[in-house]
Amino acid sequence: MKEFQRNHPSPPSTKPNNSIHDGGLVDGRGRRITYLRLAITDRCNLRCRYCRPERGVPFIPHEEILRFEELERVVAVFCSLGLTKVRVTGGEPFSRRGCLHFLKRLRQIDGVQYLYITTNGVKTSRDLDELGAIGLNGINVSLDTLDHKRFWKITRRNYLTAVLQTIHGALIREIPLKINSVVLEDTCDDEIIQLAGLAREFPLTLRFIERMPFSGAVRSKKLANTNLSRRLKRIFPAIEECAAALPTTARIFALPGYKGNLGLIQGYSRKFCETCNKVRITPSGMLKTCLYDNGALDLKKLLRSGAGDYEIREAIIACVQNRFDNGHEAELFCSRTKEPSMAMIGG
Ligand code: GTP
Ligand code: 5AD
Ligand code: SF4
Repeated sequence: MKEFQRNHPSPPSTKPNNSIHDGGLVDGRGRRITYLRLAITDRCNLRCRYCRPERGVPFIPHEEILRFEELERVVAVFCSLGLTKVRVTGGEPFSRRGCLHFLKRLRQIDGVQYLYITTNGVKTSRDLDELGAIGLNGINVSLDTLDHKRFWKITRRNYLTAVLQTIHGALIREIPLKINSVVLEDTCDDEIIQLAGLAREFPLTLRFIERMPFSGAVRSKKLANTNLSRRLKRIFPAIEECAAALPTTARIFALPGYKGNLGLIQGYSRKFCETCNKVRITPSGMLKTCLYDNGALDLKKLLRSGAGDYEIREAIIACVQNRFDNGHEAELFCSRTKEPSMAMIGG
């Protein structure tokens, strides 16, 4: 599959080479990289309409997907550069056979202090015991509605019961839980109130997310992101924003009487680029230094051409020097002829 083949054009290289001043990985703008998102598959058992078309996206052939051993090796190299947090994403990570075993292996890599997954929750409940046992630091579950019909409308599948089972299973086992709810054009206030009710009843964080134009479709419908922050304040007049330890993608809010919190992720507005500490690896092995870039380094090519760890490490250090300042700049330089599916990026 042709995906993110081209390295992005380098912005003017007037930036200081400060990426290795204390053994850590710091980009050309002084942002420390400590968080790696690994999209281990492009496959998924849902068809969320904001993520992929009904027919799905053409699957990346198996041999083009990074093998688990290759991923482990890259994670270890990143850890030697100060990485501490890994999040395994997809597609749906549990759609890839061996995901649980892979998580266990990641747990054993020196330097991986915080290990998370983002899942749609459809098949996750059966593995919760083992996920708890390996000390997974948290699960983010995607859930945009509590209504069965609407769940079908959004995901084109009928798995709400299974997702709720995962959510309750994680709560029972006290695995830290966040719920990701993408706010769509037709998400009404009542739906927002119902979803927020989960944070009132349970100790979890319910995060409302601006939809981003990554649906695998050629053209996006109008996005309904304007003033999501104002909308939440209108619906919940008593919300109070909590001070957050940087860096963070989500703004967090407390509400009186709530056991959990509400959150707001303004990824479309790109409000958190200034402190962004993350890079991504796509299923086919491209390193992305911004969600909106085209892929900045072909790790698979490096790995499969026999590069040593030192060479891979140097390539990563050089690559982050050219990181875009923010998602708007990345989008500008990386003209996209059509929207890549979120499934190929992993969120
Ligand atoms: P935490 O580690 O719990 O903060 O999770 P996270 O928000 O980093 O990850 P998650 O996989 O739960 O993603 C939640 C939403 O945030 C998804 O819609 C992602 O696409 C979006 N998101 C995460 N990181 C970025 C980013 O760097 N830029 C943008 N624009 N959106 C992001
Ligand atoms: N815009 C915003 N968030 C999205 N996600 C998937 N597609 C989009 C999109 N187009 C979210 C999912 C999942 C996370 C990894 O990304 O809800 O929780
Ligand atoms: Fe699957 Fe997540 Fe995409 Fe939905 S948003 S189709 S759950 S990868």
